[in-house]
Amino acid sequence: MKLFIDTANLEEIKRANSYGILDGVTTNPTLLSREKNEPMSQLKKICEIVDGPVSAEVIALDAEGMIKEAKERAKIASNIVIKIPCTVDGLKATKELKSLNIKTNLTLCFSPSQALLVAKAGATYVSPFVGRLDDISTEGMNLVDDIKLIYENYGIPTQIIVASIRHPLHFVESARIGADIATVPFAVIEKLMKHPLTDIGIEKFLDDWKKLKGNLQKK
Ligand code: E4P
Repeated sequence: MKLFIDTANLEEIKRANSYGILDGVTTNPTLLSREKNEPMSQLKKICEIVDGPVSAEVIALDAEGMIKEAKERAKIASNIVIKIPCTVDGLKATKELKSLNIKTNLTLCFSPSQALLVAKAGATYVSPFVGRLDDISTEGMNLVDDIKLIYENYGIPTQIIVASIRHPLHFVESARIGADIATVPFAVIEKLMKHPLTDIGIEKFLDDWKKLKGNLQKK
């Protein structure tokens, strides 16, 4: 499973990238608004750090406007992917962008029927939002399960990006289901390698090593 970082913060992207395990970035208008920079220049900076796909969302709600904005954003860098909401106009824009060889990530996906239709329109990626479903007492991961089953039934090439991840179990469950990608906030990425038994184990090994050295010196 590929790991994307869900942020527009350059420091977080640089740090996660330095771990050697980062495959791409997803942004959205909310994440970009936290950075206070001009969004297009922020996206350009992100694309300079990461070689993998970087999702940049459109603001327009009509297909024509989405296509216009997508063409502008696609000029930022060759690894830009256009994020489009799962709406009827989003379908139309996706179909047109596919014919122009512009990659798309269909965002705000909350149902298997949306996932099937965006795939039919030619979406490169679909982003089911698991955390926001959990927030309304609906099992978010069940949606990922359903999409995976449907895509496998028909050999659909659209890749599943599990989005709106809130904790490490969302990440692990995504891998169990066989999602293609998980896009994870930096704070959750940091938790993925943490284990108290690892820390306790290191402390004990270092302690025993010091004792051994001390004993050898006494001899
Ligand atoms: C993904 O592409 C979205 O940017 C993101 O995962 C949304 O997460 P949230 O529900 O925590 O805002």
